[in-house]
Amino acid sequence: MSTLFRLALLEDLPELLRLEEQCFSTDRLSRSSFRWMIEGANGRLLVAQYGEELAGYAVVLFHRSRSVARLYSIAIGERARGKGLGRGLLERVEACARERKCTGLRLEVRVDNPAAIALYERHGYRKFGSIPAFYQDNIDALRMNKSL
Ligand SMILES: CC(C)(COP(=O)(O)OP(=O)(O)OC[C@H]1O[C@@H](n2cnc3c(N)ncnc32)[C@H](O)[C@@H]1OP(=O)(O)O)[C@@H](O)C(=O)NCCC(=O)NCCS
Repeated sequence: MSTLFRLALLEDLPELLRLEEQCFSTDRLSRSSFRWMIEGANGRLLVAQYGEELAGYAVVLFHRSRSVARLYSIAIGERARGKGLGRGLLERVEACARERKCTGLRLEVRVDNPAAIALYERHGYRKFGSIPAFYQDNIDALRMNKSL
């Protein structure tokens, strides 16, 4: 079965919330945040659809006054991990940022999340700092960026 990458729709909200609950134990996005990202945000909410299942999502936000975009969140459901969907979403996020003439992408990631750090490093992201106690459970964030 092939994976379809597309923009999220309002009817994806229940599945997006299910993924969020499965993938994160703190700092979860709410229904209203997802809704805002679909309808109103200066950014893109992309999803990976595998058959009937919503297997993952990624959010990129743009700034009116800055040319660096922010990867706000990315998540792949447990059963769909290790199949290249995270890489596929990341590549599409980068393509969206390039279309918007962004010169780079930055992100924050928990220091205790080796799978995500490996995904980013493999795709050319470099650490440039950290933010102490960035997450709700006081875990530090690594800051990473990539020039586009
Ligand atoms: C991090 C996450 C998005 C990776 O998605 P994925 O679809 O499993 O990743 P992919 O199969 O596309 O793997 C891409 C690369 O990431 C790295 N990677 C992914 N999972 C890994 C793991 N468990 N251990 C080590 N490296 C890993 C590999 O380097 C892999 O490289 P390859 O393409 O050469 O094999 C996924 O594990 C996830 O959703 N985790 C929970 C939510 C989360 O932590 N989000 C990130 C918030 S910052």
